[in-house]
Amino acid sequence: MKIVVIPATYNEKGNIERLITILEEEVFPKIKNHEMYILVADDNSPDGTAIEVKKLMGKWKNIGISSGIRNGLGAAYIRGMTYAVEKLGADVIFEIDADLQHDPHKIPQFIKKIEEGYDMVVGNRYSDGGSIPENWPLLRKIFSIVANIFVRIVFTKFSIHDWTGGYRALKKEVFLKEKPKLDNYSGYIFQISFLHRAVRDGFKIGEVPFHFSDRTMGNSKIAPLGYIADVVGYVVISRIKELIFGKFGKFLIIGGTGFIINAIFLRMLVERANWHPASANLIGGVVAIFFNYNLNNLWTFKDRQSSGFVSYFLKLIGFYLSSGTGVLFIQTGTILALTQFFGKENYFIYFLIGTFFLLIWNFTMYSKVIWKNKS
Ligand code: GDD
Ligand code: MN
Repeated sequence: MKIVVIPATYNEKGNIERLITILEEEVFPKIKNHEMYILVADDNSPDGTAIEVKKLMGKWKNIGISSGIRNGLGAAYIRGMTYAVEKLGADVIFEIDADLQHDPHKIPQFIKKIEEGYDMVVGNRYSDGGSIPENWPLLRKIFSIVANIFVRIVFTKFSIHDWTGGYRALKKEVFLKEKPKLDNYSGYIFQISFLHRAVRDGFKIGEVPFHFSDRTMGNSKIAPLGYIADVVGYVVISRIKELIFGKFGKFLIIGGTGFIINAIFLRMLVERANWHPASANLIGGVVAIFFNYNLNNLWTFKDRQSSGFVSYFLKLIGFYLSSGTGVLFIQTGTILALTQFFGKENYFIYFLIGTFFLLIWNFTMYSKVIWKNKS
C-alpha cells in the first residue's frame, strides 16, 4: 500500500525537522511492506516552515508539501488529503500533529489495525493506556476528558473514546466518501465531524491508545473557548437532526397518527354507538397501539425487523407491555407526582411533561429492547 503521512503545520519551524527525521530514520525503516511518503500540509506559515521542509526534500525523496492560504486545520487536511489521493495515489492517509505531541513511533500500530481490516483508526488518549499530559492544569485535563465523555453520551457511541484527537489513519475510501460533506468544518471541529460521519456510514473504526505528550516548542493554535462552543454546538445540533430525520422522527409521526386514531375511535364509539367514554377509549387505545406497533415494525425499525410470526407476536406483546408501563408509571406517575407537589391547577402542563417523558421512555424501549440492534 502507499501510505501518506500528513503533518499539518502552521508555524512549526522548530518542530518539523525533528518530526521528519524521526519518521525517516526511526519509523519508516521498520515498515517493510508499504511505500511511505510524507506530505506536509502547510498554510504559508510566516515563520518559514516550508523553507525547512524544502531543505529536507533534498535529503529524502519521499517528501512533498501542499501549500495554501490559511483557513483552519480541517481545510488544510482536506487540501492535503485530496492531493495525497489524487496526485500521489495514496491508499492510506495519516493525520498527525507536527509538534511531536503525537509519538510517530506509534504509526506501525495504526497500520497493523488497517491491515486487520479497520477503515479508520483513531489515536485514543482516554483509555487502555492512553493518556494526556501529566503537567496540564487541572481545568484543562477536566475539559479534555469531559468533552469526550459528553460526545460519547450524546452520540450514544461508547466504543469510541477519543472523538476530538488528531492522530489518525484512514483508508482513502473513507476520505472520498466523506469529503463532499466536510467543507463546512474547516477548523478543529473537522476531527469530530469527520469521525462522526465515518461512524454513521458504517465504516469500521479501530483505536490505538497513545500518550499525548506536551508541546515543547512553539504554541498551540487552538482557541479553547471557541472550540468548546463549536464542539457542543456541533454535537448537539447534529444529534437532534439525526433524531428528527431518523428513527425518532418516524416514531413521532407514527405516534401522532396513533393519537388521532385513538381519538376517532373514542368519538365514533361514544357518539354513534353510545359507549361509555372509558371503555371507548380502551378500545381506541388498543387499536392505536396495534397500529403503532405495525407501522414502527414496517417503517421505523424496518432494518431490525425479524421474520416469523413468533418473533412478530413476542415483539407485539413487548410493545403493549412497555407502552402500558410507560403510560402507567412514567406519564401518569409524572402527573401524580407533580399534582401532589404543586396542586391540580396546571394539570395539563403536567400531562405534557409526562407525555414528553413517555416519548423518551417509549423510544428508548423500542430501540434498545424491542427492536434491539443486533449488530
Ligand atoms: N496547516 C495548518 N493550518 N495547520 C494547523 C492549523 C492551520 O490553520 N492550525 C493548527 N495546525 C497544526 C499545528 O501546526 C499542529 O501541527 C497541529 O495542527 C495541531 O495544532 P495545535 O495547535 O498544536 O493543536 P493542539 O495540540 O492544541 O490540539 C490537539 O488537540 C485537539 C483537540 O483534541 C490536536 O491534536 C488537534 O488535532 C485536536 O483536535
Ligand atoms: Mn499541539
